[in-house]
Amino acid sequence: MAVDHTRFLADLHKLREFGASGVGKGVVRPAYSQADIAARQWLAGRMAEAGLTPHFDPVGNLFGLAEGQSLLMGSHSDSQPEGGWLDGALGVIAALEIARSSDRPVSAVSFQDEEGRFGVTTGSAVWSGGLPLEQADALTDAAGISFGAARSTMGQLSQGFIDAVRFNGFVEMHIEQGPALDAAGEQIGVVSDIVGIRDMRITFEGQQNHAGTTPMHLRRDAFQTLSLFNARLNDRFRNVVRPQTVWTIGHVDLHPNAASIVPGRVRFSMQWRDGDTDRLARMEEIIRTTAQEVADEQGMGLGFGPMLGLEPVAMDPALRQALERGAEQTAPGKWRNMPSGALHDATNVSRLMPVAMLFVPSINGISHDFAEDTAEEDLIAGLNVLYHAVQSLDWRA
Ligand code: GLV
Ligand code: MN
Ligand code: MN
Repeated sequence: MAVDHTRFLADLHKLREFGASGVGKGVVRPAYSQADIAARQWLAGRMAEAGLTPHFDPVGNLFGLAEGQSLLMGSHSDSQPEGGWLDGALGVIAALEIARSSDRPVSAVSFQDEEGRFGVTTGSAVWSGGLPLEQADALTDAAGISFGAARSTMGQLSQGFIDAVRFNGFVEMHIEQGPALDAAGEQIGVVSDIVGIRDMRITFEGQQNHAGTTPMHLRRDAFQTLSLFNARLNDRFRNVVRPQTVWTIGHVDLHPNAASIVPGRVRFSMQWRDGDTDRLARMEEIIRTTAQEVADEQGMGLGFGPMLGLEPVAMDPALRQALERGAEQTAPGKWRNMPSGALHDATNVSRLMPVAMLFVPSINGISHDFAEDTAEEDLIAGLNVLYHAVQSLDWRA
């Protein structure tokens, strides 16, 4: 076999030096941070050494282009604020290794801001036409910095947007980020479909006041309102959700966040995911009416930010079959078909071309945490599946 496992693992470990957290193998490499840009510049050099032409587009997506028509492979190299070393990085380095070892034309990509510092998979959303650039530029991160300002820090590297017609399809390898494969002792997941997501910010506005003198019945307390909203929402969702449905309040900005002040304002993220678009819409309705009801009861003002979202998508049958053949060859009896509960750039890329995805296990199902990891033999098994799949593709199809 032509893939070089040692070179693949060495590059994967090299990438985690950019933004190394010092805690386990974790990384802090949010989109457009110094560590993220330095990592992209290193990747561009590795792509050039592999015979690919590096190309940064206006939002900082990095492509390593093969000549002529090619299969696009990759993922993202930005991380969560407390990220694991494999989330995204695995797919990018695997793409690089396949591009330099396969005799088939393969291009590699690292999309920008997959982790949603600004939006939801922002770089691939813009490239695929799912999110207009002007709209993306107006998005802000938790500190109020705009996407437009952040991407301008990579302006000196920027060339035009790549025309997607040069790619026949897209294959993304990723860690599972959940417990299924690890718990079953399996090595490979071939993805059937990726769930849909909705994400928005909600604000409750009350009255900031003294925590010692303000009687309880006169308070318009933002924390108490959020707490009530959350409890009521969980109750209201019970008749609508199914076991696979998830919802998260992951970022809370309580103002002014001081022990002796009744908090006057809370701004928080509300995110929900499911494979069924109708269910996502029913949940949105419940979120909006519950928030309004709680705000009215508590005498609070209420504001909804713009709602971002991605629809559920199914993987392309032909590419998926190629991955299944590779899985059966590499890990007979130790692979399965499975949906993805995590979001991926492949969702956006599916607007432009056929897409497929491959998973390897996450130890204890942990991800979006410094502790995220995968056994080395599973990383290598995934790479081998990719290699077999690419070699087996019918390029005339
Ligand atoms: C991507 O990291 C996601 O939130 O699923
Ligand atoms: Mn990822
Ligand atoms: Mn992630």
